[in-house]
Amino acid sequence: MKNNFNHLFAPLRVRGMTVPNRVVMMPMGSDFAGHDGELSDEHIKYYELRARGGTGLILVENICVKYPEGSNGTTQLRIDKDSYIPRLFTLTEACHRHGTLMGIQINHAGASAMSSRIGMQPVSASSLPSKPGGEKPRPLSKDELISIAKDYGTAAKRAVNAGFDLIEIHSGHSYLISQFLSPTMNDRTDEFGGSAENRARFCRMVIDEVRKAVGPQVPISLRLSTDELVEGGNSLDDCLEYLEYLNDEVDIFDTSAALNQTIQYQIDACYLEDGWRSYMAKAVKEKFGKPTIAMGNIRNPQVADDIIARGDADFIGIGRGLIADPDWANKARYGDVSDIRKCISCNTGCVGNRIGGNKPLRCAINPDLINGEAYKKLRVVKPCSVVVVGGGTAGLEAACVAAEVGCTVTLLEKKTYIGGLSVEISKIPAKKRLGDFPAYLKHRAEKLDNLTVKTGVNVTSVLIKTYKPDLVVNATGSVPLLPPIEGLSDNLGKEGSAVYSIMDFINSLDSYPDDLSGKKAVIVGGGAVGLDVMEFFAPRGAEVTIVEMLPMIGRDLDASSSSGMKECMAKYKVRQLTKTALCTVKPHSFVVKNDAGTEELDFDYGFVCLGMKAYAPLWDAIQKDFGDTDTEILNIGDSVRARRIIDGVDAGRHLVLNTLERLGYII
Ligand SMILES: Cc1cc2nc3c(=O)[nH]c(=O)nc-3n(C[C@H](O)[C@H](O)[C@H](O)COP(=O)(O)O)c2cc1C
Ligand code: SF4
Repeated sequence: MKNNFNHLFAPLRVRGMTVPNRVVMMPMGSDFAGHDGELSDEHIKYYELRARGGTGLILVENICVKYPEGSNGTTQLRIDKDSYIPRLFTLTEACHRHGTLMGIQINHAGASAMSSRIGMQPVSASSLPSKPGGEKPRPLSKDELISIAKDYGTAAKRAVNAGFDLIEIHSGHSYLISQFLSPTMNDRTDEFGGSAENRARFCRMVIDEVRKAVGPQVPISLRLSTDELVEGGNSLDDCLEYLEYLNDEVDIFDTSAALNQTIQYQIDACYLEDGWRSYMAKAVKEKFGKPTIAMGNIRNPQVADDIIARGDADFIGIGRGLIADPDWANKARYGDVSDIRKCISCNTGCVGNRIGGNKPLRCAINPDLINGEAYKKLRVVKPCSVVVVGGGTAGLEAACVAAEVGCTVTLLEKKTYIGGLSVEISKIPAKKRLGDFPAYLKHRAEKLDNLTVKTGVNVTSVLIKTYKPDLVVNATGSVPLLPPIEGLSDNLGKEGSAVYSIMDFINSLDSYPDDLSGKKAVIVGGGAVGLDVMEFFAPRGAEVTIVEMLPMIGRDLDASSSSGMKECMAKYKVRQLTKTALCTVKPHSFVVKNDAGTEELDFDYGFVCLGMKAYAPLWDAIQKDFGDTDTEILNIGDSVRARRIIDGVDAGRHLVLNTLERLGYII
């Protein structure tokens, strides 16, 4: 069959393993495991779906080699006993049946474990925490290190027994081996601290134990924080130096980046370009002549193919891209690239749920990580007319799903375009990726003959009736929340006033000068929307102040976005006024109040970003006109309560399908 992207889909042999193509699923903790660390059925289906989607090599998420002290996350996988082998074998068997090879990432969390979960003080290279403000660990003795290195070896042996084709040793991301490698966490004075050779010694012991355990045929991959991107941490050059002591038994270098405190460069922030950090893979490959994996926001197959073609790396690591679309590889290889549901690097469903949220992995734009598009097998058994009001992401998902199972669907949108708020937000340069999702939905909708999209429509309940709907889905979204604060409505967006809403900001993006030095911007609201404005104004030199009622700024952000936001605020010296209320709005100043008293903040640009509220102007009429009829009605997404993309898209898929099933339209 014809291949697109020939470099990306060429096989490659590494030691005793021939990988069918260069697409590697990156290890990503999922919290799908049971509390005993056993693979769940969900787990197996999740990975199998990505194997079926044409992924060449799957690196299963980090698995614990020594329990409980080495464990990380809420329900991490374990491999510290033989009893874990049977389920792991079931997984490798299921994926091998699709031609995909399987690797697994063995890990000891060290100081990144939490005493509240493991019931003891975490261990590490020294007593330095693995992140600023983190728990103080206990330094490990030499005997303990010898024993832990053996645990890695035993774990690797179990993994090979369970059918894994490759072992990945996690030596990055502030876990135990990284705690030895990085001078930021290792101040030992013995043979495991100080020089590059000494800091690499424990990693070397682990590699040697793993090689002894797996024999000469099984490749070993070493995952690195190639550039730690932390002051006082290992730079790329430092990494190239310590790798001289590790290189010989390693077959693949998995060139990740960053530590806990720079996680926005490890689980890449939205604004970072596709493949921005492939220079790290290139440098390691150039020095050691071994295959490397490049990763980081790689969503576009052309970028992936170019990286391989240039010889910067031999494999392309895709993490979130495969959460969002398990068929990324097959779609790139055989299909239309516009069919790919490209991850938008929002981090809400994945990082937000998993890291710090104690919840299983989910995705803002892919409402079913486990069963994928199995719903497409459902078919209408009696004619069903569906009207969707509102063409934002929730409405579009609902309309596409209903059409895909065979309903006759009409989507009515008041604006002249579809895609809703995501289209607006994606106009902010740093949020450009967000536009990929409405673009994908639009493309999906255009391919459905039984879905008619009408824009620029003045929708009324009377109009809806003309379609004789069996189901009406209201998805009219949200509008900015403007509380009754003195002076707000008189000044917002008014002539002679410099007070603006997020929509005014977006509509004026082209008119702001690149250099805003000497200008003052005050942003009321330290949530995601206010921070988007801050991230635009601060780097352009404006003096920025954020006013937030809550005790902290960015309270609802995921770990990666939060770290990026903190870095930006520190770098540009953004003034942060927390526990501060907006009292009065004037044309060129805000009067605010906190425990220190009242202050008047002058500005050249004042933004009121107090969140969004549900917008459902038709819902009352829809309830009145259809409530007592055979027509079923649903209100979904932001028009119920302003939330995130993930909530609306989930309802657009599942609530709509479940309703159609309950009413007997589909089986
Ligand atoms: C939810 C989540 C969990 C992750 N867990 C791991 C992990 O277990 N081990 C690891 O080395 N990296 C982990 N990562 C980092 C990814 O492997 C990957 O390097 C990163 O997401 C960047 O690639 P991407 O832009 O293609 O997602 C995780 C990332 C996410 C989003
Ligand atoms: S939740 Fe957002 S960042 Fe995570 S995989 Fe989905 S689209 Fe990507």
